[in-house]
Amino acid sequence: MRIAIIGTGYVGLVSGACFSDFGHDVVCVDKDEAKIGALEQGVMPIFEPGLDQLVARNVAAGRLAFTSELAEGVRGAEAIFIAVGTPSRRGDGHADLSYVYGAATEIAALLDGPTVVVTKSTVPVGTGDEVERILREVAPAAIVSVCSNPEFLREGAAIEDFKHPDRIVVGVEDDRARDVMQEIYRPLYLNRAPLMFTSRRSAELIKYAANAFLATKITFINEMADLCEVVGGDVQDVARGIGLDGRIGPKFLHAGPGYGGSCFPKDTLALLKTAEDVQSPLRIVEAVVKVNDARKRAMGRKVLKALGDEPRGKIVALLGLAFKPNTDDMRDAPSIAIVQALEDAGVKVRGYDPESMEQARPIMPDVELCRSPYEAADGADAVVLVTEWDALRALDLDRLAASMRRKILVDLRNVYPPADMEEAGFAWHGIGRPSPL
Ligand SMILES: NC(=O)c1ccc[n+]([C@@H]2O[C@H](COP(=O)([O-])OP(=O)(O)OC[C@H]3O[C@@H](n4cnc5c(N)ncnc54)[C@H](O)[C@@H]3O)[C@@H](O)[C@H]2O)c1
Repeated sequence: MRIAIIGTGYVGLVSGACFSDFGHDVVCVDKDEAKIGALEQGVMPIFEPGLDQLVARNVAAGRLAFTSELAEGVRGAEAIFIAVGTPSRRGDGHADLSYVYGAATEIAALLDGPTVVVTKSTVPVGTGDEVERILREVAPAAIVSVCSNPEFLREGAAIEDFKHPDRIVVGVEDDRARDVMQEIYRPLYLNRAPLMFTSRRSAELIKYAANAFLATKITFINEMADLCEVVGGDVQDVARGIGLDGRIGPKFLHAGPGYGGSCFPKDTLALLKTAEDVQSPLRIVEAVVKVNDARKRAMGRKVLKALGDEPRGKIVALLGLAFKPNTDDMRDAPSIAIVQALEDAGVKVRGYDPESMEQARPIMPDVELCRSPYEAADGADAVVLVTEWDALRALDLDRLAASMRRKILVDLRNVYPPADMEEAGFAWHGIGRPSPL
């Protein structure tokens, strides 16, 4: 099948590379000429494990190509996926759909045969109707179907998630779109990945409902962690104790500094805006958004408390800056609010991340970025584990302690066992766990 993907970001690039690996003939289009130029040289615009080899293999096989020329990309395509960004609209938090509608308008003028236009971007309910309206207005004679195929991949595990999804959700309004989508995903269907067909509006809602539910789970355990700290419990045990219940499940029950990233913050907000517009409030999601926003800065206060009376002039090393491991994505990362809280209190902040330093530099210009966790900790009063990269899970604690001015470790991911920390001479502060000191 000949497929065009509009937007070559995390989702577009991973989807395009995986579809070509299934054997489809894929062209990835992006307006960003520098990104396309780099991809043509085999340079990935994002850090995603395994992506460079997957792209190289399929480019070499002649199944995957890149272009910044839309007309060239969509020529002869039986399916055109829209995978452009849908960021929060400045000022009001609605999803900014200008890239989606812009792409639809540009595609409409180029439709040259029966085509299925697929919205892969995360878009509010009803967006598919508007995409269809645009296509029919610009190209009244075109044979075109519009369907919704939200993406559930996780950054850092994107290829594995795309190739072994829990489910594939497809919202269609006609049989032709259904047949084309079935053909595209046939290789996964053979692997027994459930392909779920529903209406276009339901598919759009499923994506937001899934993200809002996961954000709720995270926020629930984070508040339980706070309660544990006050009443003397261990949130790790509480999470395990409830997670073993099959109705609850163990995933997304790791207490931490609050959710961030390119999806949960903007998607929960956009869902609330949809609910507000139709006067059908989602009060649980409202609470989740508020609690999570407050939590990120509260993590800064937690570090200040660990530093003691006068934080001004103290040095703090943040280890891990990306919003989660295995990505260089800094969008809405908790580290940003933590840096702000520390700098507001006069603390000198250093930072280290295995992959996101380039992205972090413009966002946190006063942070001294270091080449290793040990360089960051050298002479510091406290080390804060913000993101649990594998490389930061097994630090040489004696080496770290030897170079620090004071031995304080704030472990916002509960990676280090409190007893080991005590042995290494650290004052340890975790999340929702009793301190041995
Ligand atoms: N990042 C994730 O983990 C993830 C997961 C699931 C769903 N999503 C959703 O997928 C969508 C894309 O997210 P992303 O993280 O890949 O975005 P991104 O910002 O990384 O990439 C979007 C790309 O689209 C390009 N673009 C914009 N308008 C264009 C146009 N008219 N023609 C060609 N290219 C155009 C931009 O230059 C950019 O490269 C969003 O709606 C997002 O919510 C993201």
